[in-house]
Amino acid sequence: MSKKSTEGAPFGTGKARIGNGAAEDRDKPGPDLEANRPPVFERAAAYVLRQIDAGLDTFGPCAYPAPSSTGGIYPAIPNFEWTSGFWTGMLWLAYELTGEAKYRRAAESQLPDYRARLDGKIGTDTHDLGFLYSLSAVNEYRITGNPKAREAGLMAAELLAARYLPEAGIIQAWGNLNDPEERGRMIIDCLMNLPLLYWASEESGDPRFAEYARSHVRQSARYLVRPDRTTYHTYYMDAETGEPKYGTTHQGHADDSCWARGQAWGIYGFMLSYLHTQDSELLRLSKTLADYFAERTPADGVVYWDLVFLAGNAQERDSSASAVAACGLLEMARQLPAGSAQRQEAERQAFAILTALDAGYTTRDLPGSNGVLKHGVYNKPRGIGVDECTIWGDYYYFEALVRVLKPEWRP
Ligand code: GLY
Repeated sequence: MSKKSTEGAPFGTGKARIGNGAAEDRDKPGPDLEANRPPVFERAAAYVLRQIDAGLDTFGPCAYPAPSSTGGIYPAIPNFEWTSGFWTGMLWLAYELTGEAKYRRAAESQLPDYRARLDGKIGTDTHDLGFLYSLSAVNEYRITGNPKAREAGLMAAELLAARYLPEAGIIQAWGNLNDPEERGRMIIDCLMNLPLLYWASEESGDPRFAEYARSHVRQSARYLVRPDRTTYHTYYMDAETGEPKYGTTHQGHADDSCWARGQAWGIYGFMLSYLHTQDSELLRLSKTLADYFAERTPADGVVYWDLVFLAGNAQERDSSASAVAACGLLEMARQLPAGSAQRQEAERQAFAILTALDAGYTTRDLPGSNGVLKHGVYNKPRGIGVDECTIWGDYYYFEALVRVLKPEWRP
């Protein structure tokens, strides 16, 4: 991010830098992770693999888990939701962790379906193209070099780039660009979708995609992050003048509360843009959000679905928010100087989350479940997927375990 880009940001001048260690000390597994890794993580990953193996019979070339389970069981649905890529992504993680061809075959068998979705424009009016195609097509291209996967990834990136509103400098989250309800709305989740744009610029040589991503992350930092270190879920900009309008929630408890998964998307999402920009302000911002998240985490290690709720109330936890945050913390740790106190603290927090999820939040005691993590919340205000498994919770829990067990793994 350029100097100009941080002007007006509510969280400081960028002077309070973190992560300024020598470049050769960063992006390394380092001794910390190796030495401190709790042994339960092997067992935890083995359980995820067992659930994936069971899912291989249910899900197939055109069948994916629904976003959230019903009574702990994901129904199989066609490829129209924002979440298909999490299952395909789990298959690729399983392949990278084990080298077993069955996972690769299952993931590859879905590529034609992802291509058909693009050709048919099925549910493509969304920023979630990033989740969908980074975890499927781009992953496949990265791992196998399949040119058809590259083509699908670039097509998805074009559709995502077409959602860029130049005056506002953002990618519109949902719906038709002319829908008055949705026009000019950005959401914190979208930070997770920007890697598709960075990748498309690297792959195609066209700088436009990365420029849009950098502008979007800048506007997210400026308007979605509040001075008290909490985040708005969504924020409306005037698409014609570029003026900021107001923040509001979609899945949180209230417009001015802090939706837990939104904060977790911010922790991980700002880190992902840091990887592509090396702007230390983004690393600092991720840490700021993570500190707040940690302060609002109850002693058993897993947050309530909105961070306005603290220990002792009757609200549900959102295991998926903690799993997403763990991935962000592990990436943060990797970017901090080896041996530094900040790096050790980020790892400690990530390990505490993973240990808590393994100890009390998996479906090991829920016979018949085809999910991995129970006690997730999809959309509490609308009563969807409350206290259920969520397929992104399963994905990020598994990604975090792979990050720990295979430190050379890269997102
Ligand atoms: N991106 C939608 C959600 O987190 O539920």
